[in-house]
Amino acid sequence: MNLQGKVAIVTGSRRGIGKAIAIEMAREGADIVISDISLDECNDVCNEIKTLGRRSLAVKCDVSKRKDVENLFKQAKKKFGTVDILVNNAGIYRVIPLTKMTEKEWDLVIDVNLKSVFLCTQSFVKQLGKKKGSVVSIASIAGEVGFANSSAYCASKAGIITLTKELAMELSPNIRVNAVGPGPIRTPMTKFIEKDKKALKGIVAAIPLGRMGEPEEIAKAVVFLASDNASYVTGQTLFVDGGWVSQ
Ligand SMILES: NC(=O)c1ccc[n+]([C@@H]2O[C@H](COP(=O)([O-])OP(=O)(O)OC[C@H]3O[C@@H](n4cnc5c(N)ncnc54)[C@H](O)[C@@H]3O)[C@@H](O)[C@H]2O)c1
Repeated sequence: MNLQGKVAIVTGSRRGIGKAIAIEMAREGADIVISDISLDECNDVCNEIKTLGRRSLAVKCDVSKRKDVENLFKQAKKKFGTVDILVNNAGIYRVIPLTKMTEKEWDLVIDVNLKSVFLCTQSFVKQLGKKKGSVVSIASIAGEVGFANSSAYCASKAGIITLTKELAMELSPNIRVNAVGPGPIRTPMTKFIEKDKKALKGIVAAIPLGRMGEPEEIAKAVVFLASDNASYVTGQTLFVDGGWVSQ
């Protein structure tokens, strides 16, 4: 097992990609802090982790709020003593044309998707002290190529890709910082695409591997980057996208 004895916080992990990451990390031997803006479903994920023989804790946390983030790390330290791995997964997607985008919606997307990486990584580094650690953030192909009507989302994900490079420089050599850039993955976030048969056909046609991805396929890449198997990898964004950004 590649994460034996490690403790990981996964934000936004009550469902979707975050849940798959939490479960895959537990399979690889880590104890997991499940955290989300809503505690709905968190206990189910915790129970699944317990059946894998690992410890878990559910903490309610809005990642865009400093007080919540500080409390998340306080609760995690109280239960597990330390946190070795941070996965910045929580995120929201808004499809809004530029002229209809309000300042409030723009700020919300940037705060939840990008400011959260700053807040969580800052708390992570402070509690880690001089110990070794690893950060993996969930970016998107939308941070590499433009998607119409998604200005704040694209900007937030491009911000994660560059912040990952900056943090890798600033936090070396003790902390490795990487990101995963998913293509379209089947989760509650993309249900609206799956419901629209025409949109789905168009999206699948744009993916060289010819299908949407599964949350577990993202989770395996995150485990790799978080583990010692990636001991010489930092500052990278690994696109797990069926070939989308390579076209
Ligand atoms: N699904 C995709 O196709 C896709 C593609 C590229 C990137 N991503 C990214 O992957 C990550 C996970 O997305 P998903 O598809 O699993 O979506 P999802 O909507 O299923 O899950 C997102 C989770 O984040 C939580 N969350 C939302 N706002 C939060 C906040 N302020 N604080 C804490 N938690 C919050 C939600 O409650 C939910 O549990 C996101 O960062 C998303 O941008 C997803």
